[in-house]
Amino acid sequence: MYKMSPKPLIAAENIQTRLNGLAHEISTAFDFDIIVSILTGAYIFTADLSRALAKIQSEPQQKEIAFIKASSYGASTQSSGKVKISGLEKLELQGKRVLLVDDIADTGITLQRVVQEFLQRGAKEVRTCVLLNKQDRRTVSFAADFAGFDIPDSFVVGYGLDYAEQYRTLPDIWTLEEQ
Ligand code: IMP
Ligand code: MG
Repeated sequence: MYKMSPKPLIAAENIQTRLNGLAHEISTAFDFDIIVSILTGAYIFTADLSRALAKIQSEPQQKEIAFIKASSYGASTQSSGKVKISGLEKLELQGKRVLLVDDIADTGITLQRVVQEFLQRGAKEVRTCVLLNKQDRRTVSFAADFAGFDIPDSFVVGYGLDYAEQYRTLPDIWTLEEQ
């Protein structure tokens, strides 16, 4: 059984402040053509980040957005190590510079796998952006190009992230504690 930490790990206001900083970092460093976001965990982060980017981009109307689904987690806090990617058939990546967005880099397996897949499908360049980075949990060599917050090795929920499909709609990010 799990229960939420008494206080949020990251409060909603702090997420929004960091997000604006992140949008500036990205727009200074990388002139992407398309944002590809990984459902379901990144849905809220992507909605907020894409709008923060649009506010500071010179030609926001030219940026595409697309979603894929990747899953390696069942109803557990442990990664299965296998990644199932779906939604690729509708995605046109040939020659494009891709900003790949996910909620969290944990073992790193998902993003490493998706980057490989995009390059195989002809993407010109792929850079990754995560809201949260759990560096201590890496099992593969992967580094996100842009990261919102480095967090310790604990399971977190809220702001799109779930535990067994629960907690996604909470505005703050919370730690789940075993009890
Ligand atoms: P990775 O492949 O191990 O890096 O994990 C990627 C996916 O696992 C993320 O996109 C999340 O959906 C999920 N995940 C990893 N850590 C957490 C967590 O602390 N809370 C919720 N989901 C997580
Ligand atoms: Mg995910």
